[in-house]
Amino acid sequence: MLKGRKILLCVTGSIAAYKAVILVRLLTKAEAEVKIIMTTAAMDFVSPLTFSTLAKNKVLSNLFDQETWANHVMLGRWADAMLIAPASCNTISKMANGICDNLLQATYLSATCPVLIAPAMDEDMWHHPATKRNINLLKQYGHTILPVNDGELASGLTGEGRMAEPEEILQFLERFLSGKLSLAGKKILITAGPTYEPIDPVRFIGNHSSGKMGISIANEFAARGAEVTLILGPSSETVPANVTTIKVTTASEMFDAFFNYFDKSDITVMAAAVADFTPDNIALQKIKKNGDELALKLKNTKDILSKAGEMKTHKQVLVGFALETENEKANALKKLHNKNADLIILNSLNDNGAGFGHDTNKISIFNRNGDEQLFEKKSKKEVATDIVNAIINFKNE
Ligand code: CTP
Repeated sequence: MLKGRKILLCVTGSIAAYKAVILVRLLTKAEAEVKIIMTTAAMDFVSPLTFSTLAKNKVLSNLFDQETWANHVMLGRWADAMLIAPASCNTISKMANGICDNLLQATYLSATCPVLIAPAMDEDMWHHPATKRNINLLKQYGHTILPVNDGELASGLTGEGRMAEPEEILQFLERFLSGKLSLAGKKILITAGPTYEPIDPVRFIGNHSSGKMGISIANEFAARGAEVTLILGPSSETVPANVTTIKVTTASEMFDAFFNYFDKSDITVMAAAVADFTPDNIALQKIKKNGDELALKLKNTKDILSKAGEMKTHKQVLVGFALETENEKANALKKLHNKNADLIILNSLNDNGAGFGHDTNKISIFNRNGDEQLFEKKSKKEVATDIVNAIINFKNE
């Protein structure tokens, strides 16, 4: 699966650099094309000659090499993936903070390809708040962090922080590049669109949701090999062919359809703008004008996300949306906790080009610690990719 894929492997100063040697061997055996950048610190652990011999490519290390300039911009464009393995605490910190003091950093800062990071460090360094912050920043930049292993460390201690094994990294890379990162066989449940609450046979209470955001998320999961069920309120958007779509009209129908699938779902994303109120009574005949006003009595609908939050097991990932017009962050975090979701995606109606009807959206994703991943305004398709990547990162934590 890696045949012909271009991998830019960056090796930094860590005892796990010896494992990168095995990784290069595995990559070349899989017929990937490998270019290697080493930091000066990495060379204290393994000789560049070992890498250049295995990769059949000169190891790059300096921005300037006598009269030649290493073209860091083209390196990041050449690669299908930039993989930093091992990624030392120092390199992670520099990447998170945009420091540009060596070839690796310059290449990273100008890379247009996906970036994958396999951290390697001692447990206490791994758990230090500064490292946690840096790792979170890297996730916010949209990079993929490979899980660290729990085991024997260079310090002689045992704990978390060991770099993933070369075989694990290879497998991860294969799945990543085939676009199926751990999602084949996964069951995904998405709600999307508005709901319409009938007042009488011809009128209803609805909202401006088009269903575009939820449909884009369903598409993105399906493209990565997952089995996707979409519970869709009234929407004129085309439904994806490789997604099982259940069409509903009211909040109550959405509730019932949803709980036919929820207990089997690995990841659930609630993008629907479910009506919060529904008429207490639906008139059987069209209501006629009678006087100057009409009073409608409304009752609350059942909150699908809250119920799912009560029922979910620790294996299930539950993601909600919050569409806000004021105190956006505080309201989103309140929803996240009150509804017991794992992540909440905030879009604010105060941002131009965000929310209902548009082809673009601007989102922030919050976890239960209140960490925020803030994204630029993008097409809903690109936003869906960011959301799916963030969920995968969350699952890998
Ligand atoms: N939601 C739901 N069922 C409802 C209402 C909302 O599943 N009856 C879900 C939405 O799909 C969304 C999240 O809850 O993922 C937040 O929806 P939102 O309408 O922003 O929040 P509400 O709880 O309805 O709060 P309010 O309208 O008061 O802001």
